[in-house]
Amino acid sequence: MSARKTRVIAIANQKGGVGKTTTVVNLAAALAQMKKTVLVIDLDPQANATSGLGLAPQPGTSLYAVLTGAQDVADIILPTPYENINIIPSELDLAGAEIEIARQDNHLAVVRNELDRVLAAGVFDYVLMDCPPSLGILMTSSLAAADGIVVPMQCEYYAMEGLSVITALIGQLRDNGVNPGLELEGILMTMFDGRTRLATDVVAEVRSHFGDKVYETMIPRNVRISESPSFGQPVVFYDALSKGAEAYLAFAAEFARRTPAGGLPAEHGQADG
Ligand SMILES: Nc1ncnc2c1ncn2[C@@H]1O[C@H](COP(=O)(O)OP(=O)(O)OP(=O)(O)O)[C@@H](O)[C@H]1O
Ligand SMILES: [Mg+2]
Repeated sequence: MSARKTRVIAIANQKGGVGKTTTVVNLAAALAQMKKTVLVIDLDPQANATSGLGLAPQPGTSLYAVLTGAQDVADIILPTPYENINIIPSELDLAGAEIEIARQDNHLAVVRNELDRVLAAGVFDYVLMDCPPSLGILMTSSLAAADGIVVPMQCEYYAMEGLSVITALIGQLRDNGVNPGLELEGILMTMFDGRTRLATDVVAEVRSHFGDKVYETMIPRNVRISESPSFGQPVVFYDALSKGAEAYLAFAAEFARRTPAGGLPAEHGQADG
């Protein structure tokens, strides 16, 4: 197996409930359908990405165990029920990782150092990190480890303010040399309801500020999306014909076009097998 170019992407927004986990789970599922190999890293002690991909959170099986030296990172990369998707799961103990990381020297590099060992194996096209809704150490360390950030943004009034916080953080991590190559990959508008004036106004405002950084694809508010986590399934598998699934499949295609990974472009099939 030859090495691939792995793209490490953090899905982040310090605001809660904007669709980060939904985006991680469904982007992973759609990329996997496109024959891309994906590693999801669940960095949120709530473990919603873990359960959303059909795994029960297990004490001792998260990045926390790696950070305390109890486990090797290779041993906590688990298969999911879905082909081409692996996961470093989360569980409640991960909340302790903030303190564990803070105790270590050069703590912003802690996640990156672990990730480098995963990437050396060269088996993944994409690593997708599901960040917790805070500006804590877990989120900043994962941004320090990422090539790029996808920011899901709910189409609501105060959304723009949250965005300036995250763009400032990106600038800081770049300028102080922690992660000079960090890119804002794109902004994904979520829970869009085209019938409301507010949603269309917010989208227009975000597009006028961020131009083509905003993905063309928008994710509509869709009941199938909100049902699917309780079945431990990404919506693209739970109800492949739903509007929500359609939107995430379109988003994944746009994402893969803008952020290519692996050996050859998708239309040439997989680089290796
Ligand atoms: N497009 C959508 N349509 C309907 N419901 C959605 C949509 N996207 C997300 N949801 C629902 O909204 C809630 C929040 O979504 P999600 O968990 O993905 O957000 P989050 O940003 O990861 O939240 P947190 O900050 O708590 O981690 C969930 O119940 C999810 O099922
Ligand atoms: Mg979440």
